[in-house]
Amino acid sequence: MAGPSRRDFVVGAGAAALAPTGASAAQTLGEQAARSGLLFGAAIDNVPGLDPAMARLFARETRILVTENALKFDYLRPSAERFEFAGADAIAAFAAANGQQLRGHTLVWNDNAPDWLKRRPRREVERIFDEHLDRVAERYAGRLHSWDVVNEPFWPMQGKPGGFRDGPWFAAMGPSYISRAFRRVAAIDKTAKLTLNEAFCETNHEWGRGIRPRFRDLVSRLQDEGVPLHAVGFQSHLLPHWPYDDADFAAYVAEFGARGLEVYITELDVNDEVYPASIPERDRLVARRYTDFLTAVLAVPAVKIVMTWQLSDRASWWRDVHRRAGRPDARLPRPLPFDDMLRPKAAYEAMGAALGSAPLRR
Ligand code: XIL
Repeated sequence: MAGPSRRDFVVGAGAAALAPTGASAAQTLGEQAARSGLLFGAAIDNVPGLDPAMARLFARETRILVTENALKFDYLRPSAERFEFAGADAIAAFAAANGQQLRGHTLVWNDNAPDWLKRRPRREVERIFDEHLDRVAERYAGRLHSWDVVNEPFWPMQGKPGGFRDGPWFAAMGPSYISRAFRRVAAIDKTAKLTLNEAFCETNHEWGRGIRPRFRDLVSRLQDEGVPLHAVGFQSHLLPHWPYDDADFAAYVAEFGARGLEVYITELDVNDEVYPASIPERDRLVARRYTDFLTAVLAVPAVKIVMTWQLSDRASWWRDVHRRAGRPDARLPRPLPFDDMLRPKAAYEAMGAALGSAPLRR
């Protein structure tokens, strides 16, 4: 496939016309975050098919991007023989053309194994694992801000020893796949911050309470063993129908800072399904949830990056979840700072204010 050219992505002067009402260029989320020494960004997918207005929105608002799907094993490896880099390369080209940094998500995840991998014997899975890490890390070495080397190590509800998430890598290697991955990538990519990314730690729901201590112990073990781990990521898909104590979570986050690690909020969005149907009311509550969460976590100096999972409601993964659930009502999730028409919502103002007024990072 012919790659997109730099020219396709450079933001022209016309972008100013798209600036949110009442907002000057200095008030973009990227700008607000930068005032506090933070990086703001978002997940992006399918760059060749991106609507130009959406491309301009990404270019204007974000200083860092993350590959929503393009670097996942199942996307890169449609078959055992093939590596399909076009999608990820297009995102890397887009980021470079717009002067944005790039996070890689994710080298290893037990959740997304293609069928062809499931039928392989153990030794063969190990070989595929090593080969995959080497090829992918080599291709992007020196170009990434950070790598989610391992995503979602825990899923205690599956009942596996240690609460680890089950899947082909865990089945073949046990928990040792985690340190193996970090060491392997570190030997190749000398500049990316190697990150362990996890879900649900933000919530006081039993899932969050089950994962938090295990994740802390894993990080501690990896550090004791001298594994090259530079950062932890907390996804932060917030589910307001579950219990939260943001101050409690912020205290947990601070523990990782005390261990010398950077902390990234990697996949932030607010599921609005329990909020009232009225759109202005819902948008107001989503905005408030962003304010409360960000105010709490940004008080922790170790938090260096905030990324939302996409920018516009129309591209949110919650829309897919909603469609798949076949909900009878026509109410669509509105979890992000921009609406379907790419107009800024109350959440945009809330995020900008929280990012811009966060304590200054060095
Ligand atoms: C999601 C993507 O957003 C969807 O497009 C895809 O169909 C499934 O994966 N936690 C993660 C992300 O770490 O990789 C997931 O992304 C969302 C939950």
